[in-house]
Amino acid sequence: MLRTHTCGELGSTHVGASVTLCGWVDEYRDHAGIVFVDLRDRYGLTQIKFALSDGSETQTLARGLRHEDVIRVTGEVVSRPADMHNSKLATGAIEVRGSTLELLNKSKTPPFQPNGRDLPNEELRLTYRYLDLRRAELQRNLEMRHKLAKLTRDYFDAQGFLEIETPMLGKSTPEGARDYLVPSRVHPGHFYALPQSPQIYKQILMVAGYDRYYQIARCFRDEDLRADRQPEFTQIDVEMAFVEREDILSTIDGLISSFVSGIRGQCLKLPLQRISYAEAVEKYGSDKPDLRFGMELIDVAEIAKSCGFGVFKTAIESGGRVRGFVAPQAAERYSRKDIDGLTDFVKDYGAKGLAFFRVKEGKLDSPIAKFFGDADQQALIAKLGAKDGDLLFFVADQPKVTTAALGALRTRLGKELKLYDPNDFSCFWVLDFPLVTWNAEENRWDAEHHPFCSVYDEDVPHLKDDPSKVRALSYDLVCNGYEAASGSIRIHDPKIQQRVFDLIGISEEEAENRFSFLLDALRYGAPPHGGIALGLDRWVMLFAGGDNIRDVIAFPKTQKASDLLSGAPGPVDMKQLRDLHIKTDLPAV
Ligand code: AMO
Ligand code: AMP
Repeated sequence: MLRTHTCGELGSTHVGASVTLCGWVDEYRDHAGIVFVDLRDRYGLTQIKFALSDGSETQTLARGLRHEDVIRVTGEVVSRPADMHNSKLATGAIEVRGSTLELLNKSKTPPFQPNGRDLPNEELRLTYRYLDLRRAELQRNLEMRHKLAKLTRDYFDAQGFLEIETPMLGKSTPEGARDYLVPSRVHPGHFYALPQSPQIYKQILMVAGYDRYYQIARCFRDEDLRADRQPEFTQIDVEMAFVEREDILSTIDGLISSFVSGIRGQCLKLPLQRISYAEAVEKYGSDKPDLRFGMELIDVAEIAKSCGFGVFKTAIESGGRVRGFVAPQAAERYSRKDIDGLTDFVKDYGAKGLAFFRVKEGKLDSPIAKFFGDADQQALIAKLGAKDGDLLFFVADQPKVTTAALGALRTRLGKELKLYDPNDFSCFWVLDFPLVTWNAEENRWDAEHHPFCSVYDEDVPHLKDDPSKVRALSYDLVCNGYEAASGSIRIHDPKIQQRVFDLIGISEEEAENRFSFLLDALRYGAPPHGGIALGLDRWVMLFAGGDNIRDVIAFPKTQKASDLLSGAPGPVDMKQLRDLHIKTDLPAV
């Protein structure tokens, strides 16, 4: 080893020892020839003092040090004078009196300092990711990622699960996003698809008798990216045979509990809370609500249908709903202009407007209050349980629009009004999703999760008469408003599988084309089975306390799916394309 210690471990107990440290120059100060260097590695920072003022080679070298130079220092650990202790630094009680200094590598002037005060823009950080990754925060995140992966492996190993790899080069799987395709050289015109998930393979493993499978699996989806989505991400993928929904839920409850105790040293109360999809949407306007705060949506149809405000009345008359919620003590917080902003915000979710009232001296105050008589005002206040100083919001529209608009507004206001402690951890199951949702644009039913979800026995007849009523045996784990895991009990009967394919417009021929290997397997003794996949990146983000999964991935892609560090995707040689039997337009220069 080139070093005896790391930069994070020296303290008072080491005083007097001769040590050798290696690392990067985080900061340097030159006080009339006495040079202080904060030396950094991923374990911490140690202050080095070169107190030589003898014009020696070491002194000259020390005075020439600049940000991010890589050095090796030998010296003695000494106590700092009491008034120079730095309580913010783990090594703040000591410093190393440097006697020899070796410049292992000179750095070019970096475009930003990893631990500098101002974080540069993300584009620069991603371009120089190796500098960005030197930041303490990212190092903590990657350490957290490692810990979660380790806890996962320990947990499943202890329960008799096998970690089994499934192919990266395979056939398209139906998770609903676009595939990343890989051309085959030996089969001209044929393509592999990178897995959107190991879904089909893990089901086949159940048929093959590997009744407890898990994998920390890389998945690829060519979809529109957001802060919580990457084109290439990691799932903790799980499948079990001879189980019912309850078994999967309690297995994953145990995993989450091991995360919380392993990372936070806290005991999680099990079983995790469960609510139905219908309840989540009714009360919170979302299938992944943040339950760290209340602000439940309340239906005011009874008052709306007979009030003097045309917008409310007509909505009810035309089969719509009027729902709203209380933003506690927000009356003064939002000006008229702010509320115009919120109105534009809900319009993005299809709402035509946003009705609002401030509660003042037991009455409603708003440009539209005049349409509400005293009795209606009191009824609204009572129905919503509102108090003076509260701000009330309502949307009148078709049920779906009231849900989407108010759900999004609730999430936004919860954050803006700081209605929760960001360190709180709220994790619960959402059960009983509808099997299918109506795709009005394409005039057909779409699978809500994927087409392999099993359904409640008693709902099977509705596959024919009213598919919207069919509840899937599916479940999502929602954490702080993120969908953090999702899964289902699968269909293991090929006949029911075909009925579901029929419903979502996948013909027998197409099903055979796309999934014949799964459908065949199901015909050779498939056990009842089910599973789930957790988004590892999202879990790391949740435990790290951030809101961007790029910060928990070593080499992430941008919103436009580019890797700024390597320049991928990029053009390739004509020869490579020729080998792959591919002709493209020349890339734009
Ligand atoms: P699903 O598509 O819901 O289910 O994915 C499971 C979990 O993976 C995470 N996730 C993502 N994370 C980051 N970037 C993305 N683009 C991304 N897409 C999904 C989410 C999500 O809950 N095969 C099924 C699972 C099963 O039924 O067993 C599946 O892939 O946290
Ligand atoms: P208008 O009569 O369109 O000027 O609207 C009067 C007020 O009602 C404005 O504050 C609108 O934002 C609000 N409003 C209009 N349509 C709706 C609706 N569908 N739901 C809730 N509020 C609405």
